[in-house]
Amino acid sequence: MLYKSIITLSFLLGNGAFALVHPGMLHTDADFMRMKAKVDADAAPWITGWNTLTANSHSSNTYAPSPQAIVYRGYDGTHPENYSKLYNDVHAAYALGLRWKISGDDSFADAAVKILNGWSSTLTAIRGTSDAALAAGIYGYQFANAAEIIRSYSGWAAADQTRFKTMLHDVFFSINHDFLVRHNDAELDHYWANWDLCNMASMLAIGIFNDNTTMYEEAITYFKSGLGNGRIDLTVWKLYTVDGVVLGQCQESGRDQGHATLDFALLGPLAQMAYNQGDDLFGYESNKILAGSEYTAKYNLGEDVPYTSYTNSDVTQSVISNASRGTIRPAWELIYAHYHDLKGLDSKYTGQMRDLVNSESGGAEGGGGNYGPNSGGYDQLGYGTLAFRLE
Ligand SMILES: *[C@@H]1O[C@H](CO)[C@@H](O)[C@H](O)[C@H]1NC(C)=O
Ligand SMILES: *[C@@H]1O[C@H](CO)[C@@H](O)[C@H](O)[C@H]1NC(C)=O
Ligand SMILES: *[C@@H]1O[C@H](CO)[C@@H](O)[C@H](O)[C@H]1NC(C)=O
Repeated sequence: MLYKSIITLSFLLGNGAFALVHPGMLHTDADFMRMKAKVDADAAPWITGWNTLTANSHSSNTYAPSPQAIVYRGYDGTHPENYSKLYNDVHAAYALGLRWKISGDDSFADAAVKILNGWSSTLTAIRGTSDAALAAGIYGYQFANAAEIIRSYSGWAAADQTRFKTMLHDVFFSINHDFLVRHNDAELDHYWANWDLCNMASMLAIGIFNDNTTMYEEAITYFKSGLGNGRIDLTVWKLYTVDGVVLGQCQESGRDQGHATLDFALLGPLAQMAYNQGDDLFGYESNKILAGSEYTAKYNLGEDVPYTSYTNSDVTQSVISNASRGTIRPAWELIYAHYHDLKGLDSKYTGQMRDLVNSESGGAEGGGGNYGPNSGGYDQLGYGTLAFRLE
């Protein structure tokens, strides 16, 4: 395949190590060119996504960040939680980055730099309860993605980029790594899949931003053979074929649909980032991520899916959970664009879920701030209609 051979030729170095490519997380330069061309041409539905982005206050070039020395997620009995400051600023940096790349107006990059530098000169730790690991995972991969967009901006000084890398490593990666290795000394199957997945996404993203192939490979290896529920064979653990469609029951299907859908809001970005580095996790084990996405989308669209009783060290779930069924997360454009638009695979339930989310979002996926003020609306970066749709 042409794509793979370009990657192999360009990035294998003499010593057998490989170099990470930039920009190479959620978006490549070709992606930014497509987004800009679609917006310049006023083409639907990308233009709807663009209008959603520019109307969101997080993408304003007057956005004022609120960096904190210590971020708390989960009430530890003493310190009030303040992690909303982090997720708002992370989403602003990402939104500003997209707006800069598409408009070419440096005032948006300058506003993003202010956020990135504000945090890298202030943040020293993430604490709270065990939920700190969720903050380190979710906002770690999102922050690295915002920074990856701004990385090529001449107005972001090299020393400031280095300080940002240090923050990503010391504050975020250190928690990601410890979590995946130790899981707070809990049973290996205690933490639901999304806990591992967000920490894997963060480790992968920080490996890319920091040009550290050890971190990057640790995340890829975990996806394939990790011991916790983020290993793909544990996240999507039971396959069925119904009417010719392969459906994959998810580790969180019997918990609730808010978390079951979150797993795909994390698997999508994880696979997209790896793909842009030449590793195809989407295709891994005959498109296992797609099987899970089709199952989860089908159930959340209101249709029946088969279910097998799930048991771990803590619970037995004998029926699929209908809690939060129909959850609206801007997460499906990425998955559908890859499997359907790029690879030409039938992904009909994912596609219908994408369309449902878009119709509930004014015609295109929004971003942080468009889905309420709480953390769930910031679990994913969104803007997928603008950023990922190919056809
Ligand atoms: C963040 O949490 C710490 C500890 O509770 C607190 O001192 C600080 O003021 C908080 N910041 C905000 C903006 O709430
Ligand atoms: C990459 O990250 C690992 C894990 O933190 C660290 O041990 C190693 O020194 C880093 N490599 C480089 C080149 O910075
Ligand atoms: C949701 O699931 C519960 C438990 O299986 C069931 O009793 C209830 O009828 C379901 N509700 C709906 C609206 O399907």
